[in-house]
Amino acid sequence: MTRPKVVVTRRWPQEVEERLAETFDVTLNETDRPYGKGELIAALQEADAVLPTVSDRLGAELFANGVRAKILGNYGVGYNHIDVVAAKAAGIVVTNTPAVLTDATADLAMTLLLMCARRASEGERELRSGKWTGWRPTHLCGTQVTGKTIGIIGMGRIGQAMARRCHHGFGMEVAFYDSQPVSVPGVPARQLPMVEDVLAAADFVSLHCPGGGENVHLINERRLGCMKQSAFLINTARGDIVEENALIDALERGIIAGAGLDVFEAEPVIPPALTGREDVVLLPHLGSATSETRIAMGMRVISNLTAFFEGRIPPDAVN
Ligand code: DGY
Repeated sequence: MTRPKVVVTRRWPQEVEERLAETFDVTLNETDRPYGKGELIAALQEADAVLPTVSDRLGAELFANGVRAKILGNYGVGYNHIDVVAAKAAGIVVTNTPAVLTDATADLAMTLLLMCARRASEGERELRSGKWTGWRPTHLCGTQVTGKTIGIIGMGRIGQAMARRCHHGFGMEVAFYDSQPVSVPGVPARQLPMVEDVLAAADFVSLHCPGGGENVHLINERRLGCMKQSAFLINTARGDIVEENALIDALERGIIAGAGLDVFEAEPVIPPALTGREDVVLLPHLGSATSETRIAMGMRVISNLTAFFEGRIPPDAVN
C-alpha cells in the first residue's frame, strides 16, 4: 500500500519527525524558514496532507486552484491562521492539538504576570548592564500578586488552568468573561456579564480567548480605558486580540500600568514603541515551548493523521 505523502512546514522535535516517518512519506522543510505562499500552494497540490503551524498563512486564495491535500494537521491549538471555511469548501479537513499545551501555556501566562508585577525584566536588564548599585529600600518596587484579582477573558482549558494557578497558588480572586456559561471546578470564580466588567474588576487581565473573527481588537482603546490604572494586561493567546497601537498609547498615557506579551499582531515584527518600554515584558511566542509539550503536540497531529487515513473522523477536527 502506498504511504500518504505528507509535507511538514517547519521542523518538529526529532522524536515526532521519526515517528511520523514510520507511517508516512514525509517531506521536511530543511531550511526551517516559514514557507511562502507559492511553497504552501505547491505543498497543497502535491501532498495528501500538509502539517502547518502558526507561522503559516493559509488564506482562501491558497485553496482556490484545486488541491490534492485532504487534511491540514495543524501543529498548535490556535488555527486563526487557516481559513477553515475555505478549506472545508475545498474538501480539506482541518485538525488542531488541544489539551496537550494547556499547562505549558498557563505556566507562561503566570510567568508573565509575575514578571510584570515584580519588574523582573527591568531588574535583569539593569543587572546585566552593570548598573545595579546594590540593595536599597526603594529599588524597583513592584506590586504584590497574592490576594489580588485576576480577570480572565476566555474560560476554556487554558483560562481554567490559569484560574487554578492564580487561586490555589496566589490566593487571588478570579473574575472572568466567557460567551458561554462556564463553571470552573475547584475554583470560586465569578463569571461577569461583560468583558468591560472583568476589565474594571481586575488587577491583572489575562487573555485566553481564540484569535481572529470577532475577537480581533477585542482589547481596544475603549476597553483599555475600562482597566484600573494600576492593572497589567497579559496576552499569551493571539496578537490580533489586542490593538497594539491602542495598547502602546494606553501605556504611554498611563492608562494601565504595564503589559506582559507573548504574542503580537505582526509576528515576528515588534514595534520599537514596545521594545523601547520598561513597563512591558516581551517574550517570543513561547507559550507551548517545553520539550514535553512540543513532542505531545506532534504526537497529537500524528493521531489525527492516522485516524484520517484509516477512514475514521480525526479526534481534533475543527471544521
Ligand atoms: C498554539 O498552539 O496555538 C500556539 O500558539 C502555537 O501555535
